Amino acid sequence: MNMIDVRVAAVEQVTPLIKHFKFVKEDGSQLPPFSGGSHIVVAMDAEGRTYRNPYSLMGSPTDTDAYHISVRRQENSRGGSAYMHENVRVGMTLKITHPVNLFTLAKMAHKHVLIAGGIGITPFMSQIEDLNRIGADYELHYAFRSYKQAAFVEELQKACGNKLHCHSDSDGHRLDMEALLRSQPLGTHVYVCGPSPMVVAVLETAKNLGWPDSNVHNEQFLAPPVGETFKVQLAQSNIEVQVPAEMSMLEAIEAAGVQADYLCRGGVCGRCELSVLECDGGLEHNDHFLTESEKASCSKIMPCVSRTKGKRLVLDL
Ligand code: FES
Repeated sequence: MNMIDVRVAAVEQVTPLIKHFKFVKEDGSQLPPFSGGSHIVVAMDAEGRTYRNPYSLMGSPTDTDAYHISVRRQENSRGGSAYMHENVRVGMTLKITHPVNLFTLAKMAHKHVLIAGGIGITPFMSQIEDLNRIGADYELHYAFRSYKQAAFVEELQKACGNKLHCHSDSDGHRLDMEALLRSQPLGTHVYVCGPSPMVVAVLETAKNLGWPDSNVHNEQFLAPPVGETFKVQLAQSNIEVQVPAEMSMLEAIEAAGVQADYLCRGGVCGRCELSVLECDGGLEHNDHFLTESEKASCSKIMPCVSRTKGKRLVLDL
């Protein structure tokens, strides 16, 4: 994959768990333009292992001088977010992918309702720049545990004014999803990014209220789950790869020097899909891309997040 060399121009501790990073192009030239909701993948070389984690771009899509991301340190980090927090310093160079947008704003929407939970606010920070620029009708609902743990509230107040609605659990201001979605005019699109229970609640509420699927958008990149060790035979490359418990199959394949496609690395986009030629114990599908019947057929797998329940898998790669 074609990567961009960037230098870390600034690091800021935003909350006890969230750090903000600013990247500029290492050769001083402009970065590629992007649209609100885009993400990049940051490659981190750490003690013989490369982590590649996706992060939403937060800054203005018209600013190609620098990219901005924020990283929440995960309690059960497999290493990527901990590496960003502990090792990435101003002046370091990193490799990133070109921006890709899997969470685009619907151009024909009459109104946009954006719902963020916690660090799920990041893709909306570039989207509101786009919405403000075109004068679109929108409201942003930002839910968090407490103001102390919430990132970027001041910046959002400046950017959104009275379009921002904060919902702090500790103040008892919980978001009433049903009332919010029930009161929207026809032609409204809703977007959600945040913890899985919140995303599921928005999707279910919208479905129960009869919202068309095409008007409901979510971004829910999954972290690859830890599992049992197994072996994967790559039939075309004629290589056998051991997949350790704390590594995804995609990471193990890459570590073996075999090129594999990806965009989201979180089970959403479908780009990493591989055909399964043999499997001895059933598949553990963790993605949001394959249909239930495709999952049941055991003929395809998303190696960024899925694993085998058996000991050995043969893939067409
Ligand atoms: S890279 Fe997107 S589903 Fe695997």
